[in-house]
Amino acid sequence: MARTVRPTAYGTPEVLEIVETPIPQPAVDGVVVEVRAAGVNPIDWKIYSGAFHTVDDEHKDAAGVAADLPRLGMECAGVVTAIGSEVTGVQVGDEVIVYPASGAYADYVTAPVAALIPKPADLGWPEAGSLMLAGLTATHALHAAGVGAGDTVLIHGAAGGVGLMAVQLAAALGATVIATAAARNHEALRGLGAIPVTYGSGLLDRVRAAAPGGVTAAVDCAGSDEALDTSLELVADPQRIVSITGGDGRLAAGIKVLGYGPGEDAGTEFRQAARAELAARAGAGELLVLIDNVYPLQEAAKAHQAGISGHAPGKLVLVP
Ligand SMILES: NC(=O)c1ccc[n+]([C@@H]2O[C@H](COP(=O)([O-])OP(=O)(O)OC[C@H]3O[C@@H](n4cnc5c(N)ncnc54)[C@H](OP(=O)(O)O)[C@@H]3O)[C@@H](O)[C@H]2O)c1
Repeated sequence: MARTVRPTAYGTPEVLEIVETPIPQPAVDGVVVEVRAAGVNPIDWKIYSGAFHTVDDEHKDAAGVAADLPRLGMECAGVVTAIGSEVTGVQVGDEVIVYPASGAYADYVTAPVAALIPKPADLGWPEAGSLMLAGLTATHALHAAGVGAGDTVLIHGAAGGVGLMAVQLAAALGATVIATAAARNHEALRGLGAIPVTYGSGLLDRVRAAAPGGVTAAVDCAGSDEALDTSLELVADPQRIVSITGGDGRLAAGIKVLGYGPGEDAGTEFRQAARAELAARAGAGELLVLIDNVYPLQEAAKAHQAGISGHAPGKLVLVP
């Protein structure tokens, strides 16, 4: 048998529970991966929060779980334990990153071969399991904003999973990075090559002081009115302002919004194509995956509480 974390209803992390299910079988063109580490991301608690969708209590499967409640865990790393009859190029025992994954909060996950990226040997399991979603989003955002050498880019929410990746990738591109974060996170951001500024009242003046030559692009990982207003005030071309949060008024403001809502650019093909290089850079130690905390699978609710209430810089990770 294998354990899976599932929401039993829409709500707060208390609705999460562990259920025992048979170890899955691979599809003919897919594999089964024994999960060693699964990255925790805000989408994981948002999708059972009821913000996107609700169901009535009538629609339950045999285990008592509402039939259309989401599977949790969109990324992980682990070891291939079974392969489908038509699979070539993958062996049992291969160490892989799975992205995108579905239902990675589990001992085992099934995946199509197209979702597998070889795990770099020098990358730890927690880092490998939590690299892709944040790293690819940051890569996509910087690409959409056209960030390169000579730019000064303002990154809002820089101490979060995506922000920490965006800071490092923008610095590696040769940009000057202004990073908004709570004061307790400034030292970590300085260590990654950014100029940290505290968000909140007076942000505009603090960014102007930190970037006397002006700001040429912005990446919003915070989703606040302040992040949008400050970016619009400082960046001349609104198409060089990119938000990953899809908050109110962002599309109407003429900026780029990345995600999965109407008018937003999901960038699926771009992100898929960027996976190998991201893994290579993390494996070579050029890109740090900071880990805040690793929780056992049965403490998924605790990990989500930490994510919702705020935590130290770095990813939250589940380990079966
Ligand atoms: N569009 C996409 O494809 C996509 C992909 C991934 C994530 N997202 C979304 O992007 C957002 C960030 O994701 P994440 O994984 O980086 O989240 P995260 O790891 O939970 O980090 C969020 C960060 O936001 C900071 N923050 C909170 N309030 C802020 C404010 N008012 N101004 C500036 N920073 C603030 C916090 O840092 P401090 O400790 O410094 O306060 C926190 O570290 C989430 O809403 C997520 O759902 C979208």
